[in-house]
Amino acid sequence: MGRGLKAGVCAAALALALPGLAQSAGPKSSAGQPWRNPKLSPDRRADLVIGQMSLDEQIGLLHGVFPRLMAKPPAGSIPAAGYVPGLPRLGIPALTESDASLGVAEAGRKDDDATPLPSGVALAATWDPKTAFASGAMIGKQARQKGFNVLLAGGVNLLRDPRNGRNFEYLGEDPLLAGTLAGASIAGIQSNHIVSTTKHFAINDQETGRMVLSAEIDEAAFRESDLLAFEIAIETGRPGSVMCAYNRVGGTYACENPFLLTDVLRTDWRYPGWVMSDWGAVHGVAAAKAGLDQESGQQLDKKVFFDAPLKAAVQSGEVPPARIREMTHRLLRSMFAAGLFEHPIQAGGLDTAADSLVAGHAAEQGVVLLKNDKGLLPLAAGARRILVVGGHADVGVISGGGSSQVIPPGSVKFPPPKGAPSWGGGQMYHPSAPLAAIKARAPGAEVTFSDGADPAAAAGLARNADVVVVFATQWSSEGMDVSMTLPGEQDALISAVAAANPKTVVVLETGGPVLMPWRDRAGSILEAWYPGARGGEAIAKVLFGQVNPQGRLPLTFPASEAQLARPTLPGGDQAVVEGFGAPNPKPFDVRYPEGSDIGYRGFAKSGDKPLYPFGYGLSYSAFRYSGLKVVGGKALSASFTVTNTGPRAGTDTPQLYLTAGPKRRQQRLIGWSKVALKPGESRQVTVAAPQRMLADWDVKAHGWRLDGGAYKVAVGPDAATAALTGSAMVQAASLKP
Ligand code: BGC
Repeated sequence: MGRGLKAGVCAAALALALPGLAQSAGPKSSAGQPWRNPKLSPDRRADLVIGQMSLDEQIGLLHGVFPRLMAKPPAGSIPAAGYVPGLPRLGIPALTESDASLGVAEAGRKDDDATPLPSGVALAATWDPKTAFASGAMIGKQARQKGFNVLLAGGVNLLRDPRNGRNFEYLGEDPLLAGTLAGASIAGIQSNHIVSTTKHFAINDQETGRMVLSAEIDEAAFRESDLLAFEIAIETGRPGSVMCAYNRVGGTYACENPFLLTDVLRTDWRYPGWVMSDWGAVHGVAAAKAGLDQESGQQLDKKVFFDAPLKAAVQSGEVPPARIREMTHRLLRSMFAAGLFEHPIQAGGLDTAADSLVAGHAAEQGVVLLKNDKGLLPLAAGARRILVVGGHADVGVISGGGSSQVIPPGSVKFPPPKGAPSWGGGQMYHPSAPLAAIKARAPGAEVTFSDGADPAAAAGLARNADVVVVFATQWSSEGMDVSMTLPGEQDALISAVAAANPKTVVVLETGGPVLMPWRDRAGSILEAWYPGARGGEAIAKVLFGQVNPQGRLPLTFPASEAQLARPTLPGGDQAVVEGFGAPNPKPFDVRYPEGSDIGYRGFAKSGDKPLYPFGYGLSYSAFRYSGLKVVGGKALSASFTVTNTGPRAGTDTPQLYLTAGPKRRQQRLIGWSKVALKPGESRQVTVAAPQRMLADWDVKAHGWRLDGGAYKVAVGPDAATAALTGSAMVQAASLKP
């Protein structure tokens, strides 16, 4: 965020602010404080401590400030996103909260020293829970080192619209893939004894009008898509907190929505943690009755509802005191479960050089090779004249804007596009320049750079090059949506350069899918997303074959906006995108008639051909699948052999799709595997699909219904290619939510 933010806070000031932090947790001995006993369950401990708390003390934990907006932030707070004072009398630590979709963010503060991970879609493109865990573990460690015990991470909103300006923070279009990786990342964060959230609950799937729009979706479809992504993320990662979203769902604000917060989250999923609001998402005390436990960033709401007004509501009988105890309980039990009491924060010890390797590894794995004509890549050792064009490749790699933005020292800012939010860090490039990384790998070559401002001049240079690497960037940010067309003259630049020299490699650094009018002309295309702290290195390693590309698309690249479920962005006709510091647009509805058939599932239904399908990605090697055996029963599993038929060691990601159930055709990713193989090597893999992934949500029965009968599946390298097909009989079942 960063609305009205103060100038950068230097490290020394931060260090001064830290000592009071979790050390203010109170008496060290547990004598007389039985809730300090870690052998007791988190719930028991929460009950014991609440027994000692007055109503005022409980309410004191249920609302928090946005320190970065405060002229005088509270002692012990850090000028970041959130702070909730603790209760030293009872040893309850304060909550110090940082944004963290992609690292410990201090958006808007220049020269912070946290390490930026590659974007969420880049992580999703790894299809690798281990990488997600390691990435989460790294930023969780940095959080502790920087004095935070809560990370506002775990964004898992599904990509329903390629134009959503926050797609880069999330994990693509599929609930199983997104939920699994979000859960792994949350688990990694929390392995540091701090709390992670998952957000934004739910269906905050576009930025335009996010404060006012109402998402309209059929319940069964909702349960099978956006809610399923959260359900899987919560089961896998057990986040201490869930952040409810700004938008309305079915006409009711997400943060005061009993269906979302009480019926689904607490009753059906038995989620034990606390719900915190998004910053500025609370509209009244009624939210407490609906299931919201804590008001965050309270200055952004019209009133601090969860302070005096909440107390007045208790006194008037509108909110029962038991509900206040329940809210406090959910918060405290998560704090106990995460280990906040036993592991107070001790700031210091940051090692960004080592940590950036974690970010670099994730970026390398997430780069997707989309096209590679005549083996143009990896770049031949013999290339003498390499021309690098555009994308500020001489400066660094682009990062997305908004609350998630990490701005390490050496980052360079370029003017944001028209309509970009006035808050936040802006259009920043991380200091990992692809040009330098390319030069370092081609010591004998003449490497020339053209900024690409003049397409004709760049094309002239391209004619004399052995190979051209042209970079194209798309900035996107929280608080705005984007076009699927690359900004500025980049399409014209790529077309001109590729027409001049067919040995043109296009490297995309985008938040999500873009259109590629020049696709047929380009020799090779790499999608590098926003690649983070060592993005330039990661790109160069792939270009030169030090890394064999293994990323797979976690989203579909449509061929045109006409192929989208909503060809025109809802609310996009209004001048105002979101209301911080500006009037809100007029409320409007966003209808999701595609239901759970998002992305590739919609393409399977319509038969339309996308530019690149979900799951797609090439390698410098090649893989073959054989010998499919599908076993049914209660659920379903598929065994098959993967062979590396190419010349290099590489990693493949065979995917298992449901293509039809007993009652209808319907495509769904139901599992996948990652297999590293040497040239010529074969391995048998088994992919098991859990029962729920085969089932449909039955509104009447209020549960998952698995119809008995034949289930058809396909194994393939992407959603549009069925390399092997088979089927098995699966037993009928009713699954409770
Ligand atoms: C964003 C959240 C973020 C919060 C605090 C909001 O604008 O939607 O993702 O955690 O600000 O910065």
